[in-house]
Amino acid sequence: MSISEVPKAPLRGEVIHEGRRHPFEVLGARRSALEVRFTNGTLPVDRMEVEGAEVTLIADPIAIGRCRVEGHRGVGDVAMAHIIPTETPLRCDDLYKRRLVVRLDQGFDQTALLQRRKAEIRPEFRAYTADLVYDLAIYRQLFDEIDASLANEKPETAALVRDSVRAKQGRAFLRFFDERLAQLETMVAGFTRAEHERHGFYFRRNVWGNILTSAFLARTNIRPRGYAGDSMMMQQLYDNSYQGDSLFGQLMHKHPIETAAAQAVRNRRKLLVDLIEAAYRDRPDPSRALRILSVACGPAWEVRDLFTRAEDAARFSCTLLDQDEEALGEAEHHIHLVGTRLEAPVQAKYLRDSVRTMLMSKDIVAQFGKHDFIYSMGLFDYLTAPVARSVLTRLYELLEPGGRMVIGNFHVENPTRTYMEYWMDWVLLYRHEDDFQALGRELPGATFEIYREETRSQMFLDVRKPRG
Ligand SMILES: C[S@@+](CC[C@H](N)C(=O)[O-])C[C@H]1O[C@@H](n2cnc3c(N)ncnc32)[C@H](O)[C@@H]1O
Repeated sequence: MSISEVPKAPLRGEVIHEGRRHPFEVLGARRSALEVRFTNGTLPVDRMEVEGAEVTLIADPIAIGRCRVEGHRGVGDVAMAHIIPTETPLRCDDLYKRRLVVRLDQGFDQTALLQRRKAEIRPEFRAYTADLVYDLAIYRQLFDEIDASLANEKPETAALVRDSVRAKQGRAFLRFFDERLAQLETMVAGFTRAEHERHGFYFRRNVWGNILTSAFLARTNIRPRGYAGDSMMMQQLYDNSYQGDSLFGQLMHKHPIETAAAQAVRNRRKLLVDLIEAAYRDRPDPSRALRILSVACGPAWEVRDLFTRAEDAARFSCTLLDQDEEALGEAEHHIHLVGTRLEAPVQAKYLRDSVRTMLMSKDIVAQFGKHDFIYSMGLFDYLTAPVARSVLTRLYELLEPGGRMVIGNFHVENPTRTYMEYWMDWVLLYRHEDDFQALGRELPGATFEIYREETRSQMFLDVRKPRG
């Protein structure tokens, strides 16, 4: 089954050229360009600037100023083009996906305000940050010199030398990084939430150049898909390898994915396979496949792990739900490949939807089906208690009698918390066992167990529904 479409009114507009108006419909968007189809069948211009364009958001046309129109293909009488706003560059993906007009340069309006914020930073924190930036620069230059010296070397020789440098000087650098993180934790331990935010912002501006050397840190900060924890970051966490063009960049990438929190993500992937296997052995109805629902499934690596033999295709039937089309598409692609490899197609349904839809659904069972094993990892860390409680209640409605539901949430004792907040700009809603248990207190007849994985940073709420 393919990804279910979220119905949305088409975004339409007009290009104004030599006083005439040419209507178009927007079919997609890149960050800085709209992909359009001219609905009167002709391209007004190609590779030229037009006087202006408008798009109609809800009811009102919004002028987006002078644009360049670049025709890119035309089949029959279909006139396709990219429209690139040039007078005021816009975030066209936001315009298309979220119906928001966001100027690409709007951050520049705030430079003076942001520069003034440094006055609110504690002197000892400024000194810590300045020293760190200096010390990182010392390491960076040394590693860069080794890269430069290997530039003309045979690739196999260069690879051997890099392995050796990573194992010795690289590991020493990672330990230095650990020590500096420990100092940071001590320094910010008594901060209020507002102080964390201010100092974290200041800190990231100072170490920005270092952040950009690391594929992982760059992605958590820039968030190309609008949120931290996207399928590319999950892939990086699972790969746990030295990624990057330079030695320094590789080390800056490897360090954050060796943390307790990153290990917890790898641990939960394995734990889920074990839990699903246990749910299969204990399934309420042995005459059929175990029905599994993954909520906020992302790339669903654990589902790919689940299918190792052709017989598994008949043992499990999966429903995967996520709001991100790209993550869901990736899950679908790889699960399809697993089915092809095993010569036994996996029974899987892919739903592009938000859990917020569940909260509003009048007939949730008709919409999402009943399941024997429901789980959600990496979602509840973003939900406030009232929303989390409502989502849990609705998921419980989808659970078959005798079914089991497992929800993950990072624990308040996550040792990577400061690192995540200051270096990765990754703020979660942490929970304690009591908070977690309280979310499910009103689920009728439910029994609970709460446990953590090996690193003790990830906690699981394991809910069982009584059999009939
Ligand atoms: C950190 S990832 C975890 C993915 C997966 N569960 C795993 O452990 O690999 C979080 C996922 O939650 C999804 N997500 C966030 N908010 C959501 C919502 N309101 N409804 C559905 N999915 C959501 C994101 O698109 C993303 O794929």
